[in-house]
Amino acid sequence: MHIFPVASGKGGVGKSLFTANLGIALGQAGKKVILADLDLGASNLHLLLGERRPGRGIGYFLNESRTQLVDYVQPTQYKNVSYIPGDSEIPGMANLSAAQKRRLMKSLSNLDTEYLLLDLGAGTSFHTIDFFLMSGAGTLVTTPTPTAIVNGYVFIKTAIFRLLHTACKKGSPGEKILKLLEKESSNFQRLYILDLLKEILRADPDSYERFQALSKRFRPRLVLNMLENPKDADRAYKLRRSCQQYLGLDLDHFGIMYRDELQDTALTSGLPIVVYKPKSVLSQAIYRIADKFIQFELEYEGEDENLVKDTDFGDDSFEAADLEAQLDYESKIEYLEELLHTGALTLGDVMETLKTQQFEVQKLKQENTLLKKKLVEAIERGYLG
Ligand SMILES: Nc1ncnc2c1ncn2[C@@H]1O[C@H](COP(=O)(O)OP(=O)(O)O)[C@@H](O)[C@H]1O
Ligand SMILES: [Mg+2]
Repeated sequence: MHIFPVASGKGGVGKSLFTANLGIALGQAGKKVILADLDLGASNLHLLLGERRPGRGIGYFLNESRTQLVDYVQPTQYKNVSYIPGDSEIPGMANLSAAQKRRLMKSLSNLDTEYLLLDLGAGTSFHTIDFFLMSGAGTLVTTPTPTAIVNGYVFIKTAIFRLLHTACKKGSPGEKILKLLEKESSNFQRLYILDLLKEILRADPDSYERFQALSKRFRPRLVLNMLENPKDADRAYKLRRSCQQYLGLDLDHFGIMYRDELQDTALTSGLPIVVYKPKSVLSQAIYRIADKFIQFELEYEGEDENLVKDTDFGDDSFEAADLEAQLDYESKIEYLEELLHTGALTLGDVMETLKTQQFEVQKLKQENTLLKKKLVEAIERGYLG
């Protein structure tokens, strides 16, 4: 089975539109496809599929430990395509426990299908990153706006950092370096992944090698959506260059999709755009990307795309939330500075990005405090330890 997670640094960039229509295009090409809505708390994949009443889905599965994920797979009207609804009634992905996450990952991996597309929530929460890393061939969707590009970059950076954490096993010298970094927040602010890697190579060649093996199979795909004019496509180039230069990573450019007014009518008619108007500019772009998915599958024949298994992640997500908020913030500033120097950003863009960013950090910190409180309560009541 091929797992294809779809993620974005920022919401509203077209992940669900892309996932739904890509799935249908792959189904039309004869592939058996399951779409899973993992944007818990803000699920809308069903709407883009034209399903008004989604029924029980992942939220329900998570709270009902006796049920199986396969019980929630529902057929769609489209050939070869089924889907698992999300749940907008339960709080987002950030509140999953480590055990719930592992159970969900394992169940997803055990589904019987050729293609499994995961529609993930926006942002760099730990769980979202972990689902993205289930495969080395995840897709990052972004629009050309500076805020979306910066958030996309930070998403990739956070994913690489997560791989590094996974590569440095408990008690290894590499892990000590990472721990130290977390303690000294002043170092953390100037964290360049490439310098950090050099340090880890010196102190801990084993962990370094593990990281190299993982990152070699980490080949995220980039899709640029809602272009207004051809010049917007340059943003994809800038993002790829930044990833090469600062993260040592090549993004595969999978295609661009223009903003298409027909999509609004498609949505209100309750039809996916590739069904409503297969000849439209947007549908044609999606078909091209679907072809590329199939073509890449042939090229990678025999290679293991699955990157990180459910059991590879430790239970460190709880402690890491604070760290992540900080990493997120600092790397955005750092990348913003870079963009400012190249003249790609105006001061207005920077202000807007900083404002949304500060809000997000605030939110993450609040979530973390809430989780800590819950944990303390649980210990006091004798549920744990
Ligand atoms: N290329 C496009 N042209 C026109 N509208 C689009 C395009 N891509 C996405 N949209 C619209 O933008 C909105 C957000 O898209 P959605 O897929 O829900 O984003 P996300 O899942 O990333 O939050 C939806 O109303 C969708 O129909
Ligand atoms: Mg969505």
